[in-house]
Amino acid sequence: MKIVIATRNAHKLEEIHAIFNFQGLEVCSARDFPDVPDTIEDRDTFEGNAIKKAQELCEATGLMAMADDSGLEVETLDGEPGVYSARYAGEPCNYAANNAKLLRELEGKENRRARFRTVIALARPGEKPLTVEGKCEGVIIDELRGSHGFGYDPLFVPDGFEQTFAELPAEVKNKISHRANALAEASKHWKHFFQSLDTK
Ligand code: IMP
Repeated sequence: MKIVIATRNAHKLEEIHAIFNFQGLEVCSARDFPDVPDTIEDRDTFEGNAIKKAQELCEATGLMAMADDSGLEVETLDGEPGVYSARYAGEPCNYAANNAKLLRELEGKENRRARFRTVIALARPGEKPLTVEGKCEGVIIDELRGSHGFGYDPLFVPDGFEQTFAELPAEVKNKISHRANALAEASKHWKHFFQSLDTK
């Protein structure tokens, strides 16, 4: 049994491998299918985008496919940037411009609560897609700190820590992040499903 992961990002793939137990499934990624076009992420929820990505890859390859969609939700901005996290300051995705826009939007705001969210979808030929979710709660600070990671990491301090995601070592972020939590949920909820495939 083979599963394809909907990413061309080697770093993301490594992170998924480190956390997720595929129970003896053969794992490949979208990098192995260069002719399959990337999904247009035009749904208005993380779940909608993750399902769309997984289903399109499943249909194009005939394989079981796993996809994730993530972003930052800021409480006082009614959940923005949300599904628009990558292109908050416009296309193409520019992390520095996104962070600058977020700081402008939060100027003078007292409530700095925010959370990262990830939804992972699993699409199987001829079956309904499955989804799980992971979160990481924290606050947005008012200056950029740290150089690790990507995206909004220099502005996000997770609950229980004083450093931003960009200051914390990757091993720490990868234990507590929204993606890690979603992958742990997937391992927990889909374990029996993968075990049953393994014996077929
Ligand atoms: P994706 O769905 O994982 O590609 O994430 C979409 C966007 O959300 C990224 O371009 C980032 O702006 C933001 N994002 C997602 N995960 C993280 C993270 O772990 N740290 C910082 N920003 C993130």
